[in-house]
Amino acid sequence: MKHILTSLILILLSMNIAVAASGDADAGKAKAATCAACHGADGIGASDSFPNLAGQHADYIAKQLNAFKIGDRKDPLMAPMAAALSEQDMADLAAYFSALPRNGASSDSGSENTAGAANSAPVAYVPNPAAGKSLYELGDASRSIGACIGCHGSEGNSEVLIYPNLANQHPEYIAKQLMNFKHKDRVNYAMNQFAGAMTKDDIADMAAYFADPAAVANVVSRRVMPAAPVTAEVIAGKAKAATCAACHGADGNSPVALYPKLAGQSADYIVKQLQEFKTGTRKDPVMGPMAAALSEQDMLEIASYYAAQKIAVADSAGSEIGKKLYFGGNVKRKITACVACHGVNGKGMNKAGFPTIAGQNEAYLKAQLMKFKKGERNNDYNTMMQSVASKLSVSDIEELAKYMASMK
Ligand code: HEC
Ligand code: HEC
Ligand code: HEC
Ligand code: HEC
Repeated sequence: MKHILTSLILILLSMNIAVAASGDADAGKAKAATCAACHGADGIGASDSFPNLAGQHADYIAKQLNAFKIGDRKDPLMAPMAAALSEQDMADLAAYFSALPRNGASSDSGSENTAGAANSAPVAYVPNPAAGKSLYELGDASRSIGACIGCHGSEGNSEVLIYPNLANQHPEYIAKQLMNFKHKDRVNYAMNQFAGAMTKDDIADMAAYFADPAAVANVVSRRVMPAAPVTAEVIAGKAKAATCAACHGADGNSPVALYPKLAGQSADYIVKQLQEFKTGTRKDPVMGPMAAALSEQDMLEIASYYAAQKIAVADSAGSEIGKKLYFGGNVKRKITACVACHGVNGKGMNKAGFPTIAGQNEAYLKAQLMKFKKGERNNDYNTMMQSVASKLSVSDIEELAKYMASMK
């Protein structure tokens, strides 16, 4: 679990570097003449092995050019191309390509693409685009494969600038990059881990999905998590949680807005909070003594019980301003998008210690963000939340709390 955390931090750190340069699209257009042979005059790759650059995030393009130049990313065709570019060239080229329309897609897109991806597999395997979509949207926690949608966005339209768009990319290119990440021919901590856990068939499925995402039926039904198994811990936890019910509700849905809902919260996160209330790392006059009375085993059982309950989310209007900030952050003000850690559905990432915030009580969310902002709550690893919250205004916090409370 530390791996995912570390990789996210690395990604987030690299974000600040990436946003530094600013480019001129007109200057980039002239410089792009040498790229056209492979990436097309319109930024649409001339063949399946040449990635589309049209509409790709500028930050991402600049970062890749630099990686080719310094040898972090290896490719015999791109290395010499990038070696000749200055930082300003890279920024200009990135500005130019990112402004081109993305709808050109592959010139030979269609069912052939899917077949192509399948052909490269040693045994004839008929790729299943629905399985690809399912893996894309859900990941596979049992194999530590993160949900791709959390970083690359819905149908591959990434909302976070440093995560590449996969939409309208050649499926063959997507498959090739996943193989490169799998074999560490291309280095990125998070991607090496996820692709490393994917089989060749998973990769073929993923390519098949991107051959035509619109054609894949809704796999939302698969998103319904299987009912959490009722383990011995869950049963024992229910009895031990009786003392908590007055404030957190019998099923973890707190009736009082200032008390957090615990239903559906990740067990690891609950245990961490209880340990920290007990040691005083997280300070609260009410929870301190409650947690002091609990053993490690009590914490585990109570956490298992709450994690297995279903959160009740009240219907509410939410907030458009809050939503925008949640998904997009604010590059100018260096506010990292919340989606990067708390996920598209607000369900966090259990393994990395990112809590669920979807449907949490609005007043509680607001209070916690204020505490992080003022440094009154400082139990967050690497000051992740304090550094985000310190850049939020009080009205940002109000809108974000409204939006997160409405997420289902
Ligand atoms: C001779 C063909 C060729 C030329 C010319 C060329 N490229 Fe590339 N480019 C490639 C190939 C092949 C890849 C994919 C490398 C891989 O598989 O990792 C690539 C990858 C890239 C990527 C990474 C895209 C992604 O989605 O990760 C960027 C950015 C890029 N090229 C920009 C440029 C720019 C800018 C120019 C002109 C200055 C240029 N290329 C010229 C062949 C070329
Ligand atoms: C934690 C965030 C995160 C998750 C989750 C994630 N990716 Fe990535 N992905 C990245 C980053 C960052 C890069 C760019 C790496 C670099 O800078 O070279 C990337 C690059 C890629 C690329 C190469 C794109 C290109 O244009 O060259 C592909 C393909 C890809 N990811 C597919 C996936 C798939 C499939 C999944 C799910 C199994 C996934 N990713 C999950 C962050 C993520
Ligand atoms: C008298 C009311 C009260 C009782 C009883 C109570 N809590 Fe709490 N709990 C709170 C309050 C208030 C907070 C928010 C503290 C803060 O503002 O940081 C909280 C926070 C928490 C959190 C942190 C949640 C998060 O999202 O970060 C956990 C976990 C928790 N309580 C578990 C328990 C458990 C387990 C019990 C029973 C052993 C319990 N609580 C009993 C009032 C109570
Ligand atoms: C770099 C990752 C990261 C980013 C980006 C991030 N968070 Fe968090 N967030 C965390 C972690 C980790 C915690 C849990 C800290 C702990 O262990 O107590 C957390 C906790 C929280 C909590 C408290 C939850 C609870 O139950 O007490 C709220 C509210 C929250 N985040 C909101 C946000 C908002 C809003 C944004 C965007 C403006 C954001 N976060 C961005 C990592 C992140």
